[in-house]
Amino acid sequence: MLLTDRAVSSEETIPALEMKPVQKTTFINNRRYLGNKYKLLSFIKAVVTDNCENVDSVADIFAGTGAVASAFTDKQILTNDILYSNYICHVAWFSPEEYSRKKIEKFIGCYNGFRATQDNYMSDNFADTFFSRDDCRKIGFIRENIEECYGNNEINKRERALLITSLLYAADKIAKTCGHYDAYRQGVRFDKPLELSVPIPNDILHAQNTCRNEDTNELVKSISADLIYIDPPYNSRQYCDAYHLLENIARWEKPSVSGVARKPDRTKLKSDYCTKKATAAFEDLIQNINARYILLSYNNMAQKGNGRSNAKIDDDSILRILNTKGEVKIFTQGYKPFSAGKSEIDAHEERLFLCICHTKKRENIRSPLNYTGGKYKLLPQLLPLFPKTCDTFVDLFCGGCNVGLNFRASAATFNDSNEQLIGLLRTLKNNRKQDTFDTLFSLIEHYGLSRTDQHDYSFYSCNGSDGLTSRNREPFLALREDFNAHSVRDTDYYLKLYLLIVFAFNNQIRFNGKGEYNLPVGKRDFNTKMQLKLGAFIDRIQYMDCTFLNLDFRNVVFAQSGETAFIYADPPYLITCASYNEKSGWTETDERDLLEYLERADSEGHLFALSNVLECGGKRNDILSDWLQRHNGRYHPVGLTMDYSNSNYHRKGRTERTREVLITNYRNNETSSVMRRPPYSHTRATTAGSHLRTSPPFHSVWR
Ligand SMILES: C[S@@+](CC[C@H](N)C(=O)[O-])C[C@H]1O[C@@H](n2cnc3c(N)ncnc32)[C@H](O)[C@@H]1O
Repeated sequence: MLLTDRAVSSEETIPALEMKPVQKTTFINNRRYLGNKYKLLSFIKAVVTDNCENVDSVADIFAGTGAVASAFTDKQILTNDILYSNYICHVAWFSPEEYSRKKIEKFIGCYNGFRATQDNYMSDNFADTFFSRDDCRKIGFIRENIEECYGNNEINKRERALLITSLLYAADKIAKTCGHYDAYRQGVRFDKPLELSVPIPNDILHAQNTCRNEDTNELVKSISADLIYIDPPYNSRQYCDAYHLLENIARWEKPSVSGVARKPDRTKLKSDYCTKKATAAFEDLIQNINARYILLSYNNMAQKGNGRSNAKIDDDSILRILNTKGEVKIFTQGYKPFSAGKSEIDAHEERLFLCICHTKKRENIRSPLNYTGGKYKLLPQLLPLFPKTCDTFVDLFCGGCNVGLNFRASAATFNDSNEQLIGLLRTLKNNRKQDTFDTLFSLIEHYGLSRTDQHDYSFYSCNGSDGLTSRNREPFLALREDFNAHSVRDTDYYLKLYLLIVFAFNNQIRFNGKGEYNLPVGKRDFNTKMQLKLGAFIDRIQYMDCTFLNLDFRNVVFAQSGETAFIYADPPYLITCASYNEKSGWTETDERDLLEYLERADSEGHLFALSNVLECGGKRNDILSDWLQRHNGRYHPVGLTMDYSNSNYHRKGRTERTREVLITNYRNNETSSVMRRPPYSHTRATTAGSHLRTSPPFHSVWR
């Protein structure tokens, strides 16, 4: 039974459990919402239809009611809003999960026929404010019951969302507000009782629709779409203030509330777009967007009106920021296009800024650490073979971090067994960028090292081709000695290490058996190019949600429980002669353990990509070849072409054949959609046989 004893709670009785058969229906736009774009849908659609080609996926990333997404249900849609009360409605309207309409009607029939007589969280806190006591009791009872039924598996996630949506829409309809919950209207009669309607989503929805509930600036780092629609708040009015009560009902965490408007703590829901940080937030958002078209709604009240209604981002900033991404066209309602120069629009109008993004890919960042075997040059071949996104990216043997830095993941874990390397990376992440640069320059001055960013080579009686070796030898050795004598692993230690790397031969990191840095001085110094590289690197790691681990790879956990990892393994190559592999730094046991580690990741549903060579300088990696064969098509090697002409460290015998490969546990033509591998039992792999699933069904995700 729907309204179970358990759901009602021990004190509650059901005085009238009469099912009302006739029910009203409700649709996505039957709701009041500040700044909603319902009336602009035909304008927005016309701009997209006439100016954008081949749009198959649309992301509405400040979706509010979801009205704009609802205009694109013929495409794959992604919705996002920081408010859970909006997210839950998006799940109701757009999720591809099946639901039973009959069940929803039955629930709503019972809810409408039910008269709640017991007090609960809602009536205790909100009676006779926005709603009458009776309606509060009813809202509280229904909300509790939805959770109970979901907990009992009587309804699925979509059905839960549909019922909550129905409740939110119904409550909003009778609330004694002027459209928002900053205040309630006092002294008005509660004449309309709560009545739920049956939400009617589109019958046909794209099977890959996704709804997210995140801060947009974080979200965009992990998604891409043909068209991204941006409709941020324009002014200082925070949506979490305006809709705190609906948010409270949707979340149902029953927080304490205070003030006349009975608001809970909303600190985590405040939007930067309503503050003076709006322009910086917008710039960051646009820089991280991966789309062919960006469509922005923004009104033009920046300089007009006063106080709260003023737009937070001025037109010049909007144009400057969008212009970095592509060609910008402006349209006003009435569908009048303007050139993208100075806006000629005076009246208070809704405008659409369409940015046709340059196809140029985001520049890859190059690590300032010249790590042997670094994959920077291979990135153009590697990145297209990676999944488009994942919960956590694990760079298992991160070295200079070139790969993890340039792969878009919500979060990244960089691991390396080199303690000094990880210490240095942590220092660069945690120390203020300006402090890092100040310390480096004062160390350069202290040791008397050269500064070709300030003086040319002739100032040091050197020339560009021979470099600064003779000039910097003595100061470099003094720095090296101090560094090797430095006993505390503090910021100073790691910044000295960085400086050594900069001034050392080929910018390498290498320690001898006694743990001493032992490379000789090199030809170059901390020139402008190196400074730019370091600055960009620090910016990226300080902005990224990333962690640095110093573990043996065997001890790295794949991901937090419930999350999916994409593990990239770039181990020392068993059959090559990289400096870190001298003196048997990487053994056959390591190689076997790594393959077993990856098998385990695979069997737990994670994705992996392994860089390695199958053949090099006449040697073959039999362990790897046998492993591939044993798993009989489960793992997919893709050949890469690597130009090692600049590197005689990675291998000797450069003229001989090298088969560099990327081995994945997903098929590479599916990387745009693959997210999670169906778990795979490796017990079956030991006997190579035709019964193995070589092309398992993949769960597609938003790309
Ligand atoms: C102007 S409204 C969008 C209206 C929407 N287009 C519609 O038609 O209903 C802006 C939305 O952005 C959401 N929002 C504000 N800051 C956000 C952030 N940092 N991340 C995600 N959503 C945010 C607000 O909760 C609000 O729903």
